[in-house]
Amino acid sequence: MEKRNQLYEGKAKKVFETDNPEMLIVSYKDDATAFNGLKKGTIAGKGVINNKMSNLLMQMLEKNGVPTHFVEELSERETLVKRVKILPLEVIVRNIAAGSFSKNYGVPEGKVFKTPTIEFSYKNDELGDPLCNSYHAVALELCTDEELETVKAYAFKVNDLLKAFWNECGVTLVDFKIEFGRLSDGTIVLADEISPDTCRLWDSKTQEKLDKDRFRRDLGGVEEAYREIMSRLEKAINK
Ligand code: TMP
Ligand code: ASP
Repeated sequence: MEKRNQLYEGKAKKVFETDNPEMLIVSYKDDATAFNGLKKGTIAGKGVINNKMSNLLMQMLEKNGVPTHFVEELSERETLVKRVKILPLEVIVRNIAAGSFSKNYGVPEGKVFKTPTIEFSYKNDELGDPLCNSYHAVALELCTDEELETVKAYAFKVNDLLKAFWNECGVTLVDFKIEFGRLSDGTIVLADEISPDTCRLWDSKTQEKLDKDRFRRDLGGVEEAYREIMSRLEKAINK
């Protein structure tokens, strides 16, 4: 597979074309941002961890019936993925109150929900990724009604699978954000990444945060947390 011109550079990844029009290469950076790019920094080694973690989790999901964009890990930071058109929709599933949910609704962080919640935001940096409901998403033509039903079903399935997986690692899956894309034939697949950048992951015993909140909230021990969560995942995979 030959790497060709850079298509796009995002906050945490670069995307390159290849000699195959149906395939792209993503390259994970150590750059970290928060609050719509207002806070900027670097998390040394993050790109390597996120690349590997996302690939392992996507393969686990794929085995369990969730189609993903993953094709092949090419190197420490690079992965070959199927080319998709990303639905401009952030899909957020929550098991426990935290972050913007706690802030918006005045619920203390750590309150466990009886059933998981789902919400969407319109992926648009200029507008600050505003929250939107399923009717808004269809009215904005971000996706069709049918696609939205598929997205919702996959999102809850991803939650069940990830929750069980992290549980085995002594980690509580608090919430996460995922993105979906359309293949050239219209099939909806899970895309983007699943990593400590996009999930809240707490130590099940101590509730210690092992994710990007350590960076967002200046809690310190950011690199250590990324390494710790990766080593727990590797232990579980190699069992
Ligand atoms: P929130 O509580 O700030 O809305 O975040 C919910 C989840 O989504 C959390 O796991 C972090 C993740 N997230 C992203 O991946 N990207 C983002 O831009 C934001 C705001 C949150
Ligand atoms: N990636 C997001 C940004 O910079 C924010 C976040 O993950 O909190 O806007």
